[in-house]
Amino acid sequence: MLLVGLGAVSTTTIAGVFAIRKGLARPIGSLTQMGTIRLGKRTEGRSPKINEFVPLAQLDDIVFGGWDIFEEDCYAAAKTAGVLERSMLDSVRTELESIKPMPAVFDQRYVKRLSGPNVKKGKNKRELADQLVDDIRAFKSAHACDRLVMVWCGSTEIFMKEGGVHQSLAALEKGLEANDEAIPSSMVYAYAALKEGIPFANAAPNLTADVPAMLELAARTKAPVAGNDMKTGQTLIKTIIAPGLKARMIGVRGWYSTNILGNRDGEVLDDPESFKTKEESKKSALDYIFQPQLYPDLYQDISHVVRINYYPPRGDNKEGWDNIDIFGWLGYPMQLKINFLCRDSILAAPIVLDVALFLDLARRAGMAGIQEWLSFYFKAPMHAKGLYPEHDLFIQLMKLKNTLRYLMGEELITHLGREYYD
Ligand SMILES: NC(=O)c1ccc[n+]([C@@H]2O[C@H](COP(=O)([O-])OP(=O)(O)OC[C@H]3O[C@@H](n4cnc5c(N)ncnc54)[C@H](O)[C@@H]3O)[C@@H](O)[C@H]2O)c1
Repeated sequence: MLLVGLGAVSTTTIAGVFAIRKGLARPIGSLTQMGTIRLGKRTEGRSPKINEFVPLAQLDDIVFGGWDIFEEDCYAAAKTAGVLERSMLDSVRTELESIKPMPAVFDQRYVKRLSGPNVKKGKNKRELADQLVDDIRAFKSAHACDRLVMVWCGSTEIFMKEGGVHQSLAALEKGLEANDEAIPSSMVYAYAALKEGIPFANAAPNLTADVPAMLELAARTKAPVAGNDMKTGQTLIKTIIAPGLKARMIGVRGWYSTNILGNRDGEVLDDPESFKTKEESKKSALDYIFQPQLYPDLYQDISHVVRINYYPPRGDNKEGWDNIDIFGWLGYPMQLKINFLCRDSILAAPIVLDVALFLDLARRAGMAGIQEWLSFYFKAPMHAKGLYPEHDLFIQLMKLKNTLRYLMGEELITHLGREYYD
């Protein structure tokens, strides 16, 4: 597993896998490790664990590597991130210390609040991509890996719109050569991975693999892609609550969400340009779930406000508040308040693991390009042109599990169940 950015999320994922392997902790939050899947009719009583049903890579077989602009090894980086307790980190210290970040492709133009020494130099972005390909090949051979997966867990880059250089592979390759400004660092990584036929996921909201040029490359090399922006804290709760309100035709006038967050991610998001990327990603979910075009009386013109405030004392322990103004029968107003004291990277780590394992499965199953069945994990799920993205967590889970059944030749579950009553 190649992780771009060895920050809070990556080190919590890696240390967690090591601790779980040693039997020191449980993989809570990971569907691939803890989830089951019902097969056949309810009366058959068949519900194997997902990782016994589909041939996923085993945790013992995973090797980790990655890039970062800081030189600290994974143990030091995990200490800086301050997510896991010292005793937990010390129990896997040797393994963590052995993971040292490779020099990054980085340009401060795309992440204003960061600068670091461990950065590659190159004539142009094409040359930097070639250096990444060399890193990937060297890692693969040094660790005798059969297969690789890459996940962008780097900082959120500034907001960018799709432009001409992203429209075709030829244009993108020309742009790499010409150092086109519209190609941020994250795209250089995605390009290198997809060129090598390696599955790529974007755990952050920046514009990266979700452009026609990358999808053209993925189709050519048969690489699966997924993203964008992991659905962890407040948005996870939103996509749990909103489908419930809609299912009962409860109206919504406004949804105000605010957060305080004190980790490096929070610091990066304190820059308005990086926050804009995050804001766009966070705001789309409600519109798609509520479908105001179908339910104007219930959901038209919802006032949806999202704020993130950088507040160092809280570190990685985010606190989110949601105030939801709702209305019921005859238009009578009500309110719902949610105060979520969560841990960002604790919620994110199992997603990184699951997405990597499922993308590796997809690659072996011959499923190239956008993996919409992994929408379950993302705030702004990638989807085919002309479709709207599915944000309802429960529809997403059904789609994910039906994809696994389909892959294994099992009957899809429709929940119709007429046969018990006919
Ligand atoms: N934790 C969550 O719940 C969550 C949810 C969704 C998305 N995300 C996103 O995941 C990403 C990682 O979050 P985090 O909390 O680990 O942040 P972090 O700041 O702790 O780690 C990011 C790391 O990426 C490195 N980096 C930045 N640009 C790089 C580049 N071009 N190449 C290599 N390394 C680079 C930084 O030096 C840093 O060490 C962020 O973009 C965040 O918005 C996090």
